Amino acid sequence: MSEQEKTYFVHPSSFVDDGVTIGTGTKIWHFCHIQTGAIIGEKCSFGQNVNVSNNVHVGNGCKLQNNVSLYEGVELEDYVFCGPSCVFTNDLTPRAKYPKGHEGYKKTLIKTGVSIGANATIVCGHTVGSWAMIGAGAVVTTNVPSHALMLGVPAKRVDWVCECGERLHGELTCSHCGRKYRETEEGLEIFSSEQE
Ligand SMILES: CC(C)(COP(=O)(O)OP(=O)(O)OC[C@H]1O[C@@H](n2cnc3c(N)ncnc32)[C@H](O)[C@@H]1OP(=O)(O)O)[C@@H](O)C(=O)NCCC(=O)NCCS
Ligand SMILES: [Zn+2]
Repeated sequence: MSEQEKTYFVHPSSFVDDGVTIGTGTKIWHFCHIQTGAIIGEKCSFGQNVNVSNNVHVGNGCKLQNNVSLYEGVELEDYVFCGPSCVFTNDLTPRAKYPKGHEGYKKTLIKTGVSIGANATIVCGHTVGSWAMIGAGAVVTTNVPSHALMLGVPAKRVDWVCECGERLHGELTCSHCGRKYRETEEGLEIFSSEQE
């Protein structure tokens, strides 16, 4: 594609390999590397030193802060926020001498609206439910329910969080935006989004 036809921005210090799809309005800032087969949605923002490995899918409206690497096997749905230097993994038991290759990678799915705090680690093979919030420095070693606030090492659920980002402090109605929730087996789901 010629520079004129591009509907997204890539800073000249970054490398985009052949066979990559990047959506309209996406901005890729300094020193990033996007590898073959990656599919990146619209209106995303990638900070400095972001790496997207082969065949990784990133949805629309995602924001990746500085120093985030998305390894093969990681998938981000829409509006995922990755705090600075948060870490994904794709091999549960790595050995330099016995590399597993593609077949050995464990998948990690980060669902719509999730926020991951600075320096948090998501151990591979897990799904983080929609609108969950992972605290700074947490290490996620389990599946995470929707809207869960997860803190610590290993990360435990300490509260629920609203779609707007406010902690629910044990309530099922957000004091900030008025969204109402109900508890399900997968976490919280919106019961009424009528704003008060
Ligand atoms: C998790 C978070 C949302 C909690 O915020 P909060 O509700 O205002 O929490 P408070 O500061 O009132 O702390 C409540 C308790 O949780 C603890 N706590 C807060 N953040 C924590 C974290 N990331 N890990 C472990 N414990 C944490 C506090 O020490 C405090 O403990 P105490 O009750 O024993 O004193 C916030 O601390 C956080 O980690 N946000 C992510 C920030 C980030 O990484 N942004 C990236 C983009 S800049
Ligand atoms: Zn809210």
